[in-house]
Amino acid sequence: MEKDQVHVFAPATVANMVCGFDVLGFALDRPGDEVRIRKVDKPGVHLVDITGDDGRLPREATKNTVSASVLTYLQHLGRSDVGVEIELHKQMPIGSGLGSSAASTVAGLFAINTLLGNPLSREELLPFAVQGEELACGHGHADNVAPALMGGITLIRGYAPLDVVKLPAPSSLFASVVFPHVDVPTRDARQMIRKKVALKDAVTQWGNIAGLVAGLYSSDYELIGRSMHDVLIEPTRAILIPEFYEMRRVAEEEGALGFGISGSGPSVFAFAQSEETAARITAAVQRLLGQQGIESNGYVSGINTTGPKEIDD
Ligand code: HSE
Repeated sequence: MEKDQVHVFAPATVANMVCGFDVLGFALDRPGDEVRIRKVDKPGVHLVDITGDDGRLPREATKNTVSASVLTYLQHLGRSDVGVEIELHKQMPIGSGLGSSAASTVAGLFAINTLLGNPLSREELLPFAVQGEELACGHGHADNVAPALMGGITLIRGYAPLDVVKLPAPSSLFASVVFPHVDVPTRDARQMIRKKVALKDAVTQWGNIAGLVAGLYSSDYELIGRSMHDVLIEPTRAILIPEFYEMRRVAEEEGALGFGISGSGPSVFAFAQSEETAARITAAVQRLLGQQGIESNGYVSGINTTGPKEIDD
């Protein structure tokens, strides 16, 4: 059934999960972004309001990832008759490594699909979200948009064609997330990565990815932690993140199973086996940053298995 107006929340996400560059990611309960979409008589996609971005996002409908994705979606369905007004309310930091563009794009796509009575499944929405990511960051990685859209923990088994596998989320797995207030644009953080890797490092990396996936299936928290190591990307990107290794030391002291960069950074995250431990880690990492004069946002979250959801006004 079609609706006149829809209000949607879509979650922030942690991509890579340390060892799974561009292939692993999970959704957080919070933060996230909200999109409000309503039908209007004038056909086309009209981006009428953006809040919470300090004026950083494009206002032009074809350049903004939310409206551009909605436009592509409508073109795909052949619905040139539809006119919509979109409001984007950002409730999470931009350029944080927490999948900010993915949360907005997914909120927009979920909203338009709900507005039109769900003609497409979530899986069918995914390619539009990946295209949106390409517009926002210059590269169409799916490890933020897939968990933001499907919820839970996702594996991008392949990109051509896109093949997404949902992984189990052990019930006692909690995430501690800290966003230090330093700017690391995904575009830059991708450009600095080595394009060639040594076979010995590749062996270490795929051993860890397989170990992490096996740990998720068997709820083996020790195996999950043991597998959260990245020899390919982290050594380069850690340079952009102040106090990275000190944050890891503090997180491990507080009981982190594993610790690493969230997406392309500068946010960092740790897994813990209880909400209390995750809260202690977040507090300790934020305290450390504070001592160095670096402001931060801290979050504690379970794995969000719902993904985007309609919310009441
Ligand atoms: N996999 C992507 C990267 C995620 O690491 O560049 C960006 O959030």
